[in-house]
Amino acid sequence: MTETPATSKSSGIISGRVQDLLDKYRFSEPLHVTRPTLPELDRYTAKLVEIWRTRRLTNQGPVHDALERNLARHLGVEHLSLTCNGTVALQFALRTLDIDGGEVITTPFTFPATIHVLHWRGIRPVFCDIEANGFNLDPARIEALVGPDTRAILAVHTFGIPCDVAAIQSIADRHGLSVIYDAAHAFGVRVGGRTILDSGDLSVLSFHATKTFTTIEGGAVTCSTSRQKSRVDLLRNFGIAGEETVNEPGLNGKLNELQAAFGLLKLETIDAEIEQLAKLAAIYRKELAGLDGLSFSEPMPSIDYNFGYFPILVDVNRYGMSRDQLYATLKRFNVHPRKYFHPLCSTISCYASLPSAHPDILPVATRVAGQVLCLPIYTGLDPDDVVSVCDLLRELPGAYIRATESIEPHEAPRWRS
Ligand SMILES: Cc1ncc(COP(=O)(O)O)c(C=O)c1O
Repeated sequence: MTETPATSKSSGIISGRVQDLLDKYRFSEPLHVTRPTLPELDRYTAKLVEIWRTRRLTNQGPVHDALERNLARHLGVEHLSLTCNGTVALQFALRTLDIDGGEVITTPFTFPATIHVLHWRGIRPVFCDIEANGFNLDPARIEALVGPDTRAILAVHTFGIPCDVAAIQSIADRHGLSVIYDAAHAFGVRVGGRTILDSGDLSVLSFHATKTFTTIEGGAVTCSTSRQKSRVDLLRNFGIAGEETVNEPGLNGKLNELQAAFGLLKLETIDAEIEQLAKLAAIYRKELAGLDGLSFSEPMPSIDYNFGYFPILVDVNRYGMSRDQLYATLKRFNVHPRKYFHPLCSTISCYASLPSAHPDILPVATRVAGQVLCLPIYTGLDPDDVVSVCDLLRELPGAYIRATESIEPHEAPRWRS
């Protein structure tokens, strides 16, 4: 096709071929990486009416306690403590295991909160590379990082894909280390029908608005013993054990009644929502199958995923566009994927000088952070739009080669939509 340069308000010259694609594929409404599904407003209002009647707003009220019980049952865990967010839940997990100072082996390929909580507890993160064909901590590389100051392993079930928990546990057992799972993405994930939230010593969930299950802001610690749960419950309430007894320096980590009511309603629809997400993920897999240069992981039949993310890796040499070029170009089409997790936490200025943060010793994480793109997936996303996004992904590289000048520099990364 002959290239007819055309002008665009935002980027100057664009090729006729890209303009054709814009005419064909530009979405009138933005397709964000995620969008929360809200409970029916009148049902939420009915819950609010009850809260107004009782005037019980917070401090582990009846709605909070109901959500805690229902969530534990739904997730298949014995002990669960709700918190005001996942970051604070991670802090409570570390404190419950008395991990203050020393080192914790963790992944650089995560949301900054995972690492920042270590910093806040005076713990030095020791970054370990991720698996060659995955997104999670590589158990084969953990043991070499264990030293006299190592206290624990903090692993992340990234994008809800379970870590190799058996391998991680056997390393921890050999060296007497605690294991905490950041399960912020792993709501409801099961392996062989069994929850992954009972792996390790404690797991932490996030119920932020971008997560599959949400209480707007919120989180939880799942514990293996009632003793651990009592400790988390104490920590989230300033360490107050009774009207005149304060046992230890806790924080305010409580989830309020209004958010708990939101969560109760979300819990009623979450299975149906995950079913919808599974269908959208299946469309992506079918439509992108065989597209050279874009890869994604195939689900394993023994695992129940929540499909909260659809990450792909962009191989510039085979696809013909880099991840950053694709990211910037998709925005023109009103498609807003996210580069989760770029930049790597090991490159954040406060951690970059750590010996374990050097990119040469994190080759897989460094490559993946440069290639990953999470595509839009949320309940309510039209399956036809997913097909169109895939068609666009198929057609773009051909048009792009002749339109290089039209691509704007990518924006600084933002972590939330
Ligand atoms: C992997 C991971 N850990 C921790 C958190 C922090 O959770 P919250 O936002 O609920 O504090 C997030 C949130 O996005 C996350 O993605």
